[in-house]
Amino acid sequence: MAILPIRMLPDPVLNTKAKRVKTFDATLRRLVDDMVDTMRAAKGVGLAGNQIGVLLRIAVIEIPEENGRIRVFINPEFVSRSGQREMEEGCLSYPGYRGNTTRSERVHVRAQDLSGKLFSVKAEGTLLAHALEHEIDHLSGTLFLERLISKDAIWKIPEHEMAGYDPEHK
Ligand code: CO
Repeated sequence: MAILPIRMLPDPVLNTKAKRVKTFDATLRRLVDDMVDTMRAAKGVGLAGNQIGVLLRIAVIEIPEENGRIRVFINPEFVSRSGQREMEEGCLSYPGYRGNTTRSERVHVRAQDLSGKLFSVKAEGTLLAHALEHEIDHLSGTLFLERLISKDAIWKIPEHEMAGYDPEHK
């Protein structure tokens, strides 16, 4: 168990594409455990490998309404995405800011679990759909700042208002 430092902008690791996980072993499980501890300590809904400086395609998500269920996505990729919606979001790697972004309405994601087994998940209009897009973006080296509806659709928020409906802030 370990809480790892979260990389912040302008750390170049956040703009780097992560590589596929090829080895499903105890080291991977320990890394995922540490990512979960780190996400929870930061009161996050999701965390991607890049954010702890590990350029491997790993994302963890914990939706507040799912009663402590941890979702682990190894090598996640989109099977399909459709629809468009405007969202408000922030990022643990860019704290203190929120912005309005364009995201999909429906996502279908394929990934592997900790043992390497393939699974897929569909989400529509939910925080899970939003978080999946945010975290898979991280693995491609993309931040929500590149999804803003316009250049100035971003604002600084007071510390005490940092919680809310957000892919990375509970
Ligand atoms: Co983020």
